[in-house]
Amino acid sequence: MNQYAPSLTEAHRRFLTDLFPGEGCLLSAEGRAAFSADSSRCRAMPWAVVRPERREQVVELLRWAEAEHMPLYPRARGTCQVGNAVPALGGVVVSLLRLDRILDVDPDDFVAVVEPGVVTADLQAVCAKKKLFYPPDPASVKMSTVIGNASTCAGGLRAVKYGVTRDWVLGLEAVLPGGRVLRAGGRMHKDVVGLDLTRLFIGACGKLGLITEMTVKLIPLPEASASVLAGFADLSSCMEGARAVFRAGLLPAACEFMDANVLEAVRRIDDVPLPEATRAALLFKVDGTAEGVRAETERLCAALRPLSPVGVTVGTGAEEEAVWTVRRRISPATFQIKPNKVAEDIAVPRSRVGEAVERAHLIGEEHGLPVLCYGHLGDGNLHVSIMHDVSVPGEAEAAERAKNAVFRLAIELGGTISGEHGTGLTKAAFVPEQLGAASIALMDAIKANFDPSGIMNPGKAW
Ligand code: LAC
Ligand code: ZN
Repeated sequence: MNQYAPSLTEAHRRFLTDLFPGEGCLLSAEGRAAFSADSSRCRAMPWAVVRPERREQVVELLRWAEAEHMPLYPRARGTCQVGNAVPALGGVVVSLLRLDRILDVDPDDFVAVVEPGVVTADLQAVCAKKKLFYPPDPASVKMSTVIGNASTCAGGLRAVKYGVTRDWVLGLEAVLPGGRVLRAGGRMHKDVVGLDLTRLFIGACGKLGLITEMTVKLIPLPEASASVLAGFADLSSCMEGARAVFRAGLLPAACEFMDANVLEAVRRIDDVPLPEATRAALLFKVDGTAEGVRAETERLCAALRPLSPVGVTVGTGAEEEAVWTVRRRISPATFQIKPNKVAEDIAVPRSRVGEAVERAHLIGEEHGLPVLCYGHLGDGNLHVSIMHDVSVPGEAEAAERAKNAVFRLAIELGGTISGEHGTGLTKAAFVPEQLGAASIALMDAIKANFDPSGIMNPGKAW
């Protein structure tokens, strides 16, 4: 058991306000409260919040924190769904939003060098001006940052073709407890010398050290794209439709799925351009050259035809974004069904997604709660939303039991309890069941080399 500083002393406060003058250190209750929660709605008050603007401040902070056994919680925009940004044991939140410069976007090396607090969509916009592309695109891309995405190894909509954040980080600079500065990887697209320390940091949720700079890989910006929304009369033809597209030799940039409950929820707040008879839907995006996109869209629609889709909408050019409205409206629409949601992101082998959806619905029935399924079918990554109303006696508990049943289902199907959101606080209890004691012991031993006193984001699951 690690022994942490029990509180912030007067000397600690002085150290922090000297190192982070003015608005760089927040000690007031209001100031701290703004950094107490993330999108999981878990909450815990930090003792202080610091906002570094220079790497040297981070080095000093980590030297001090190690000596004082002070818990540190790196944080960016707080879009984490599972509580990873929450200062669970008290300590100091380190907001990385002031380290937000795009240092380089190089069209010859095909790399960008960024500070951690850069919003991912902003990086993509700067790259696009140079006809370059940084593909990772979690649903939060307009809000979340490169460091948030790296910390959780965010996936998102285009992962089926382009992979997840891990696949795009070539190198990084991180400050470790005690103030050691680690530089791993770099601007080269290939490197097989030594263990891959860069990758170890991606998905580590800030548990190894504090990333102060990242070098990411870029590719040429696809010149065109098109999207296809297709509705099916039943779940099995929908799943077969997705298989048919891949069997036709296509690798769409996105292959999303929505069940009938999701479509019904979205219909309550917006038009859904599919007939009422739709029981499940697929949403594809293809991208590439203009000629390639035209040919692939045709081939994709032809692959779906034998499954007799009840509706097909193709969006190109200025009309393309409209096809995605239904997908983008899911989150707010779910609350039309019930006011509270347990939102999970299991991933299973791709062939088992249909079974996972059917059984998630059954779990909902068994617990008397509506269950909505949608997500990144092309990655086998399914968002299962268990809707409930905490003001109705017993529903919060039923939702919790249903969540555990969904986790067990994921593991039984050979999958994982989290494909992209991480485990943090909300899934902590289930991590040992998935990983097993031997793996966890190895992970703990690796962490101890970076963070011997366990001060980096403590109180969270692997
Ligand atoms: C999405 C988030 C919930 O895919 O991961 O919309
Ligand atoms: Zn997602």
